[in-house]
Amino acid sequence: MSKQTVLLLGATGETGGSILNGLLEAREAFASIEVLVRPSSSASAKVDKLRAQGVKIRVVDIAAPVAELVSSLSGVDILISAIDAGSQTAQINLATAAKEAGVKRFVPCAFTTVAPPGGVMALRDSKEEVYQHVRKLFLPHTVIDVGYWHQISWPRIPSGRVDYALVAVRNPNMEFHAGGDTPNMLTDLRDIGRYVARIIQDPRTLNKAVATYSDVLSEREIFTMMKEMSGEDIPTKEVTAEEIVASRARAVAALAASPQDYIAQLAAWSEDYKFSKYVRGDNTPAYASYLGYLDASELYRDFKPITFKAYLEELLGGSVPVPYKERFTAK
Ligand SMILES: NC(=O)c1ccc[n+]([C@@H]2O[C@H](COP(=O)([O-])OP(=O)(O)OC[C@H]3O[C@@H](n4cnc5c(N)ncnc54)[C@H](OP(=O)(O)O)[C@@H]3O)[C@@H](O)[C@H]2O)c1
Repeated sequence: MSKQTVLLLGATGETGGSILNGLLEAREAFASIEVLVRPSSSASAKVDKLRAQGVKIRVVDIAAPVAELVSSLSGVDILISAIDAGSQTAQINLATAAKEAGVKRFVPCAFTTVAPPGGVMALRDSKEEVYQHVRKLFLPHTVIDVGYWHQISWPRIPSGRVDYALVAVRNPNMEFHAGGDTPNMLTDLRDIGRYVARIIQDPRTLNKAVATYSDVLSEREIFTMMKEMSGEDIPTKEVTAEEIVASRARAVAALAASPQDYIAQLAAWSEDYKFSKYVRGDNTPAYASYLGYLDASELYRDFKPITFKAYLEELLGGSVPVPYKERFTAK
């Protein structure tokens, strides 16, 4: 197969940044690795940094008329989107243009936990709207889900020595949800790109969904690991399934009352995650397989992911990179 040109949307973001790193690590496999940048960001410091790295930039308004977008996608074989959570349906226009431009594989923005469509997670449903559109177009595609990031799956410890790595989007807490024993698939954010580089070259993954994970752990297992590795006791609070259902309903109602309120949006997404991950138990390899996902750990047996334990070692060592650092200041 001849080498392919890859165009990535979201390279200045967290998931997209990991994907760019993974692609660049595998650069010999591709004809060209390019990034799609919106006009309003084309002069940003982050985009300047990409330019300085020698990455080719295409400045594109994905809301532009399809004909215009089609010419912006000229020569692209693989189009990857890592657009922010709130902008999922902006990909619909892009998918239409990708079909017309002859893109051979579109990777829409999934990169989340495994869950079913239809009212379990509003974020998931906005992604599914894009997948349905892609399928209606007969556009070749691959959906890649990654479970929950290591970076937002650990509990705080009383000494505060890991607080430097708190992500304000979802401060890791000290709660056991719905008993604390539901297992969840976890992937280190930094591995996402390395997985993506493999998956997009693999003919077995065309028109399929793939789930990645380094570990499948319950909150209780995570807390035990953290306790043993830190030598600190972690005070915990139990949050029952009924409490999660009730707080999710409150968050959904608050968002409905103020749909433009970003804090209300974050709270509603967070409650959906708790409901899906802990009450329903969706984010597991067994459920992924039931939904038809391929398992990346079976496809790529030689792939050595960063394990959750290795991540915790780095975290406790005080050297772990912190996502969204410039956007939020963790206190
Ligand atoms: N599995 C997990 O635990 C987990 C955790 C967090 C997020 N996620 C998922 O990962 C996905 C990506 O989220 P993220 O938090 O990594 O994203 P992010 O850091 O917010 O970055 C979003 C990227 O999209 C770009 N972008 C936004 N609108 C654009 C447009 N109209 N045209 C071109 N580029 C545009 C931004 O570019 P600019 O430089 O122009 O702003 C930025 O590069 C989300 O869909 C979310 O569901 C999963």
